[in-house]
Amino acid sequence: MQTDTLFRPFSLKSLNIKNRIVMAPMTRSFSPNGIPTDTVAAYYTKRAYGEVGLILSEGTVINRVSSSNDANVPHFHGAEALAGWQKVISSVHASGGAMGPQLWHMGIMDNHHSGWVPAEPFEGPSGMGRPGFVNGKTMTDSDIADVIAAFGQAAADAKELGFDTIELHGAHGYLIDQFFWEETNKRTDIFGGKTLPERSRFGIEVIKEVRRRVGPDFAVIIRLSQFKPSAYDNKLAKTPQEMEAWLNPLADAGIDIFHCSQRRFWEPEFAESDLNFAGWAKKLTGKATITVGSIGLTGEFLAAFAGESSEPSSLDELVRRMERGDFDLVAVGRPLLADPSWTRKIHESRTSELKGFTKEALRELVLD
Ligand SMILES: Cc1cc2nc3c(=O)[nH]c(=O)nc-3n(C[C@H](O)[C@H](O)[C@H](O)COP(=O)(O)O)c2cc1C
Repeated sequence: MQTDTLFRPFSLKSLNIKNRIVMAPMTRSFSPNGIPTDTVAAYYTKRAYGEVGLILSEGTVINRVSSSNDANVPHFHGAEALAGWQKVISSVHASGGAMGPQLWHMGIMDNHHSGWVPAEPFEGPSGMGRPGFVNGKTMTDSDIADVIAAFGQAAADAKELGFDTIELHGAHGYLIDQFFWEETNKRTDIFGGKTLPERSRFGIEVIKEVRRRVGPDFAVIIRLSQFKPSAYDNKLAKTPQEMEAWLNPLADAGIDIFHCSQRRFWEPEFAESDLNFAGWAKKLTGKATITVGSIGLTGEFLAAFAGESSEPSSLDELVRRMERGDFDLVAVGRPLLADPSWTRKIHESRTSELKGFTKEALRELVLD
């Protein structure tokens, strides 16, 4: 297996990385009261030491009372949490890595199984987290303005702390995606509408504010998914034309890199070719893209939550698509969660040492 294509450096604005491997953002809930601990710093540092090019943090929530449903998801606001993140980025840099926080507002959520709830109701475009599921309030104009400002502040703080990039979480049915999806955005004002470009207005305003706060030379990523955890086969954009009309305004607002979330990277996005989501996004926008989804593993991640184990699998198809120029970067989730040295093992062709993924890896921050 020739994997040289994965080990070429990549540079875009503030982002200079030694290879094409990205650690996918993965919520771990190991930050008590939202404060990342030294163990969290050690967890990310191990991945940097293991040769990951770019680490995207677990989703870390912006400064809104109800941006999270989990007391142990890290905050990206407040002096104590930001001091924790300062340790993370300093340590990752010292180990030769690069990193960006994934900035997150969960929107309308299920209540967490721990029983913890935020001090204010969840907020979203129409109070709905998925079709027919109301568990919070419909955002007012001033809520929307405050959330946009909070995303901008978090991005500015990330730059100030020395992070190399930021990623906006616009995928998987959370707040930004709740605005995109017609099933959860029933608004009749300027943030709603029949078409995807109309429902993209909130995301566009967030991107513009982030861009305004970080300046032109800082790399900004957005993560998007056509699928929702409540609707695997959903397509926000049903044709390449609809995808173009969705993504180009996001690019114009300030996005440098589209992180195109799929459950399985090899699945074609539309019938007319074998291009995946990242392939289409790159073709339609000319922007850099990240692919993700079951790279190096036999099973996909949502089944993993239900306990399904996965075995290591070949990277040949990934390499074929990368060499064809479909995408620029490849994000890897579970393999890096289970094994901090996954990237180094791939680089050194130590294939027989690769580990599979079992749910056990979710129980702790695996350090070795
Ligand atoms: C434990 C776990 C937590 C996750 N948390 C997030 C998250 O906070 N933000 C996000 O965008 N995706 C999250 N994901 C999805 C991953 O980023 C990734 O897209 C998915 O696991 C597919 O990659 P993989 O097949 O290499 O694991 C999570 C996945 C896992 C396994």
